Amino acid sequence: MQNITSDIKLDQAAGLRKIVNKSLGSTISLEEDIDANENYESSYVQKKPTKIITITSGKGGVGKTSMSVNLGLALAKKNKKVLLFDADLGLANINVILGVVPKYNLYHVVKGHKKLKDIIIHTPEGLDIIAGASGYSSLANLSEKEREKMITGVDNLSEYDYLLIDTGAGVGSNVIGFTLPADEVMVITTPEPTSITDAYGIIKSIVLEAPDKNIKLIVNRVTTSLEGRKVAERVVNISNQFLNVKVENCGFIYDDEFVSKSIRRQKPFYIMYPKSKASGCMNIIASRLLGSENGENKETGSMGSFFRKIFQLV
Ligand SMILES: Nc1ncnc2c1ncn2[C@@H]1O[C@H](COP(=O)(O)OP(=O)(O)OP(=O)(O)O)[C@@H](O)[C@H]1O
Ligand SMILES: [Mg+2]
Repeated sequence: MQNITSDIKLDQAAGLRKIVNKSLGSTISLEEDIDANENYESSYVQKKPTKIITITSGKGGVGKTSMSVNLGLALAKKNKKVLLFDADLGLANINVILGVVPKYNLYHVVKGHKKLKDIIIHTPEGLDIIAGASGYSSLANLSEKEREKMITGVDNLSEYDYLLIDTGAGVGSNVIGFTLPADEVMVITTPEPTSITDAYGIIKSIVLEAPDKNIKLIVNRVTTSLEGRKVAERVVNISNQFLNVKVENCGFIYDDEFVSKSIRRQKPFYIMYPKSKASGCMNIIASRLLGSENGENKETGSMGSFFRKIFQLV
């Protein structure tokens, strides 16, 4: 498993280098353009970078997909342009939650029939999605060429404020692989002891691969706010004590019957039940994200900054 993970890391690094090199090429041509047209320079400089947030968990079924979709909608309501990428290659189901039937999905990108930007679906709610391809149990099953096809094309998505990546659960190589290019990783847990232990496990795996990664925690399905705070404190404290990493508590989501009701009706709860407790929590988490975005220094020097440069340059 370790070898597979390392191979994937190397492959992804190679893919990223290619994109960066390609972007460096565009820097030169951009600079020439700037010489020719000063007006272009001001619009280029002002372009905001796309923030990449990967949503993951140790244990399965804790609410990652539900949270990704509804958080994306909450950010879209706050006038942010959001692209949601279904990277759960085993059981892709963002389109199911949103009730859309995609004509093309990641399979067509991997096979080289389509480019990533060509398979983007625009939903009426203002959230754009890239549908996953069920049946690809892990990135490890893809050849280097196929993986590369998946990564290239990302450099054309500069119009987005946020790229949210919904992953499968666990410490598998495809999940960790998708956390590496992210600016932030959002780990979801529930108050269940097994979910908390597994959240610690995934945080440990991320820290081993990327010690400086910005990790945020969301506690889903709490019955009281006190429970949410207590669970978050536990995870934050053990991560600090044993991994020497500062995990940021980004809030909680109430256990809410409207969540499963909305899933059954294939319409997100944020749209169908905007006044529900869960929707209220999404607004708070979205505001928190926007707040931290305003206060932080974006040039962290992480792998995410490679992507930021790419998004800025194109
Ligand atoms: N806040 C909540 N309140 C009530 N039920 C919830 C809540 N969040 C999630 N659920 C329930 O948990 C189920 C699993 O949610 P979801 O599919 O989003 O989890 P997941 O982490 O993406 O799962 P997987 O690991 O299989 O990808 C949903 O069908 C929903 O019924
Ligand atoms: Mg899911």
